[in-house]
Amino acid sequence: MTLSNIPKAVAILKRGGLVAFPTETVYGLGADASNEFAVRRIFAAKNRPFHHPLIVHIPTVEDLHKWAVDIQPGVFKLAQAFWPGPLTMVLKRQPHVLDIVTGGQDTIGLRMPNHPVAQHLLQAAGIGLAAPSANQFTHISPTTAQAVYEELGDKVDLILDGGFCQVGLESTIIDMTSDLPAILRPGMISVEAINQVLGLEVICNSRNTQRAPGMHALHYAPTTNTMLIETKDILNTVNSLKAEDLPVAFLIRSDCAFPSSPHITRIQMPSEPSHFAQGLYHTLRKLDQEHYQSILIEAVPEGVDWDGIRDRIFKATASRCISKPIHKYK
Ligand code: TXA
Ligand code: MG
Repeated sequence: MTLSNIPKAVAILKRGGLVAFPTETVYGLGADASNEFAVRRIFAAKNRPFHHPLIVHIPTVEDLHKWAVDIQPGVFKLAQAFWPGPLTMVLKRQPHVLDIVTGGQDTIGLRMPNHPVAQHLLQAAGIGLAAPSANQFTHISPTTAQAVYEELGDKVDLILDGGFCQVGLESTIIDMTSDLPAILRPGMISVEAINQVLGLEVICNSRNTQRAPGMHALHYAPTTNTMLIETKDILNTVNSLKAEDLPVAFLIRSDCAFPSSPHITRIQMPSEPSHFAQGLYHTLRKLDQEHYQSILIEAVPEGVDWDGIRDRIFKATASRCISKPIHKYK
């Protein structure tokens, strides 16, 4: 834990610098959200297009009023239930909020993170921190300080090391600007848990549409060819790969049969969603550095507790599902 570095981090932020910091979801690349020059540096460091809005991280629930207007009661219910924690709420923005933060929209994404380093940093700085995940645009989000360094190197002025991120996937994002709240990005706070707190059914299009091929741009993706594989296809695929000397890694969640083969690696993933989520990006990042020809990820169950994981797997694979054996060409 790097609490002793917090005064240094605050000084850097106040003079328009960039500080990467741990949150419970993934590491963020933070800048003072009311300093346009500083926020522009985030986009440059990540190579991120300007129209992608940033989440502003706030130290307390009361700070909601500094950034948002027309806040409906449901927002406070969700804040009470899930903040600090992995939930981002999209609200109508205050007029002073910079266009560069919101992508020119009249809304703002706000989150109060639940990691001791993030909380100390936000409280010591006393400002809102605009912070996307601390990775290059389209890469996998970092869940360790080392991964941040691999992604951003010297483009960041300071990296606060807070160990492994406990949640491991980015926050659930919910649009709370209308009477019909909608999930914009599923995460480890499930739609069911949100419905229970709000006492209504929020819109959750991602539940219906994420299986459609081609729906997702390649995002949150390893550079190695990464595909989804249904449980029923695993045995045949492993058997057909045995004839070839291609290094292939399988991320397996079930206890399916899996013949051993020198070039094929079976990574056993946890069968419980929160543990699976915790290790997913770290595992993909490590495999990506090991020169596999392909990474195959077993499809996960249908339940709402897997929504966030399923969404990230579809994004990592760009909905590519293996239907025939892999061959040596690539
Ligand atoms: O867990 C997380 O949310 C992490 C940590 C660092 O807090 N942050 C994160 O930020 O994942 P980023 O920038 O990688 O993803 C934020 C997403 C983007 O897809 C962006 O389009 C969406 O949030 N977003 C931000 N503000 C929005 C707004 N006003 N309306 C709609 N979507 C918004
Ligand atoms: Mg991101």
